[in-house]
Amino acid sequence: MCYKRSEVKILVTAGPTREAIDPVRFISNRSSGKMGYAVAEVAAQRGHDVCLVSGPTQLAVPEGVTCENVVSAADMLDAVVRHLSGCEALVMTAAVADWRPCCVHAQKIKKSGAGMSIELERTPDILLSISDRKGDRVFVGFAAETGDPVPEAHRKCRAKSLDLVVANDVSVVDAGFGSDNNRVTFVTLDGTEQTFPLQPKRTVAANILDWIESHRTSA
Ligand code: CTP
Repeated sequence: MCYKRSEVKILVTAGPTREAIDPVRFISNRSSGKMGYAVAEVAAQRGHDVCLVSGPTQLAVPEGVTCENVVSAADMLDAVVRHLSGCEALVMTAAVADWRPCCVHAQKIKKSGAGMSIELERTPDILLSISDRKGDRVFVGFAAETGDPVPEAHRKCRAKSLDLVVANDVSVVDAGFGSDNNRVTFVTLDGTEQTFPLQPKRTVAANILDWIESHRTSA
């Protein structure tokens, strides 16, 4: 078991996943992991028990946080399933790769001809895979979109059985991937919306934790 004793037991996922093509190449995305690490750090500072499941990032594990490093979407699903039973809240900030190569080559693929195509298949959707185990847990997801993220956030909230979706437009230059700041809208399952100004990711994290602390069933 990954958790120590204290207030809310929170499972946080962060960073991208990597889907191998061959031993030297992979498919991934631009997630830095900063949002998820900020949630983990602020939660630990508040005295919560925090388990972080992290894809590959350049970030240091925050003090007081237990971290399991994973690589692929399948690894992340496996880790989330193992840690879920001990948690009261899940914050899925991870930018899980949506596709992976159908076949992972055991040897480096050598160049031949002018072009190259790779057949891809869908990775498991982690939130959908665990939605039937939600129970009383608070589930928070993210909706990373290019353009207005709010309509998609409402759809994802219902489709993935989430209590809260944190919606952000990752195409803007001053927020989103790699930035220390984020501009988000909270969208809830009952249809409410709360839009925040541009804020440091630590402040966004604090707002997410305020929401969890006031909505967990045992509060
Ligand atoms: N997510 C997940 N498993 C996946 C993909 C995403 O659990 N295979 C989670 C993310 O961690 C996030 C939420 O689902 O909390 C929404 O992720 P997002 O990338 O915005 O959308 P997708 O569901 O992947 O859909 P699309 O890429 O079509 O927008």
